[in-house]
Amino acid sequence: MSAITVNHLNKTYKSYRKDPGFFGSVRSLVKRKYENIPAVKDISFTIESGELVGFIGPNGAGKTTTLKCLSGLLFPTSGEISVLGFKPFERKNEFLKQISLVMGQKNQLWWDLPPMETFLLNKEIYQIPKNHFKKTLDELISILEVEDIINIQVRKLSLGQRMKCELIAALLHSPKILFLDEPTIGLDVVMQKKLRGFVREYNKKFNATVILTSHYMEDVRQLCDRIIVIDHGSILFDGKFDELVKKHTQQKIISVIFEKEVLREKLLKLGIIKDFDLPKVVLLVKRENANSVAEKLLKDFSVLDMNIEEPDIEDVIRNVFSKS
Ligand SMILES: Nc1ncnc2c1ncn2[C@@H]1O[C@H](COP(=O)(O)OP(=O)(O)OP(=O)(O)O)[C@@H](O)[C@H]1O
Ligand SMILES: [Mg+2]
Repeated sequence: MSAITVNHLNKTYKSYRKDPGFFGSVRSLVKRKYENIPAVKDISFTIESGELVGFIGPNGAGKTTTLKCLSGLLFPTSGEISVLGFKPFERKNEFLKQISLVMGQKNQLWWDLPPMETFLLNKEIYQIPKNHFKKTLDELISILEVEDIINIQVRKLSLGQRMKCELIAALLHSPKILFLDEPTIGLDVVMQKKLRGFVREYNKKFNATVILTSHYMEDVRQLCDRIIVIDHGSILFDGKFDELVKKHTQQKIISVIFEKEVLREKLLKLGIIKDFDLPKVVLLVKRENANSVAEKLLKDFSVLDMNIEEPDIEDVIRNVFSKS
């Protein structure tokens, strides 16, 4: 059985809209106006247990809505969802004990209490056996290096410190499925890296299934074997990162360091000159021509160093969305 199966999922929000001004308010009292916002439109996918999948898409694409449906916080408008064989929106205890949803922009920690209090509360909620709780907690605390802060009021913690504690709170019951909605938002580069390492570790160690959304392409590229690109509520791509790059970029980048002076004109017929700053030159060439151009360069010029690279991933993604 797959860990997650989604079939033709639709989620439309009914949003109440008021006309502006006082008379608008009065009118709205008499006749309520509802607006339908289709946030997720007919999406289907399957995720096997142990997969680490990245969800990417621009603001308002439907990522959070999908995760909320998967974790049972939202009732789908139509379609079927099965997570570990459960219907999420029934929110059965057996289901809740096996999943966790972490939202970078929302917190489950109690603001006025130290994180430790929330950890203890979760122990009760999830009925985590004492020994297991202690072992897991000690492990998490040491990996995330938060020994010094778990007894400080949450409101006094930095964003990164809080995020680490959020993660601990979410993992104490050792969920089999982890939904991470922008877990690295607002974190510095070092902390992002640490968190990524941690997520990967958790995935490997427990064969846990992880779905993660992020606006940082680095997160997704480094962590996820598979990505699902979503925009305006529809899936645009589902597959490996490299395939996305191949499919949506017609170009490769060749950067060359020349040994001797070269004339700009001589390079023009090889590709688009993106950068001409001798001895370094950067050329944009058609994907299928990359190898032959490289050969030509080596043959006709004295080349000190050369690299063929894929375009910047942020550019690739921009390209995908601009087409949709
Ligand atoms: N509670 C709500 N009521 C009405 N509309 C909503 C609600 N929550 C989200 N929406 C709308 O649904 C659409 C999808 O929102 P969602 O939060 O799923 O996007 P997202 O992909 O998570 O975006 P972001 O990258 O900004 O987090 C948006 O148009 C949003 O305005
Ligand atoms: Mg979101």
